[in-house]
Amino acid sequence: MSIVGKNIVKEFGDGPTRVLHDINFHIETGEFVSISGRSGSGKSTLLYIASTLDNPTSGELFIDDRNISLLSAKEIHAFRNKEVGFIFQFHYLLEELSSLENVLLPARNLGHEKEETRRAHELLEKFGIGNKANSLPKEMSGGEQQRVAIARALLLKPRYIFADEPTGNLDSHNALNIMETLKEVNRDLETTILLVTHERDFSKMASREIILRDGRVVSSREEFSLN
Ligand SMILES: Nc1ncnc2c1ncn2[C@@H]1O[C@H](COP(=O)(O)OP(=O)(O)OP(=O)(O)O)[C@@H](O)[C@H]1O
Ligand SMILES: [Mg+2]
Repeated sequence: MSIVGKNIVKEFGDGPTRVLHDINFHIETGEFVSISGRSGSGKSTLLYIASTLDNPTSGELFIDDRNISLLSAKEIHAFRNKEVGFIFQFHYLLEELSSLENVLLPARNLGHEKEETRRAHELLEKFGIGNKANSLPKEMSGGEQQRVAIARALLLKPRYIFADEPTGNLDSHNALNIMETLKEVNRDLETTILLVTHERDFSKMASREIILRDGRVVSSREEFSLN
């Protein structure tokens, strides 16, 4: 079980501009891997491709030994719904739903809302927003909304978590809490985590770092410090 990218190239526009150059990676089940590098180096682009949300211009992605480009739309949707938790750089909560209802969305899609309500409450408590269960997103701060989005991603104990700067909006206390929760999920549930962060302290909490510069993988931490 793994996520494998082979010769991944991504180009945008008519030029076109190449933003990922022949990237190869191999992430084993249970690994906690960070993607770091400076702004514009291609971190989000790589995460979107590795998580099946975007297609590479060329190259191939294999998840659990299945070539993603050969799966039907239905199979890809089933994979995303059941096995993946997404945490985006800009969280996407539904404005008309309370934070509890937002956390429960993945369960609602599967008809398991009742069974998961207790866990949803526990996650909100864990992230210090237990008292906001009935609040709408617009009644909460950006950081509180971010924590709701993270609780939602963790609800169904997905096998994979893809996270893009999950701590971006948060103060240091809440950021560390989220990182420790991700580590815990990785250790206790063997959830495979691929996490984009430009914070070096958080990047080092992962078991391995993929460091990008200008759309290419540079492997050593020393090179990163030159940025
Ligand atoms: N949809 C798009 N169309 C055109 N160019 C894009 C698109 N998405 C990303 N890019 C370009 O690709 C490059 C990599 O972008 P990406 O978002 O992956 O960077 P990043 O490392 O995540 O940066 P940040 O740390 O600022 O989030 C950037 O130069 C960006 O402008
Ligand atoms: Mg980004």
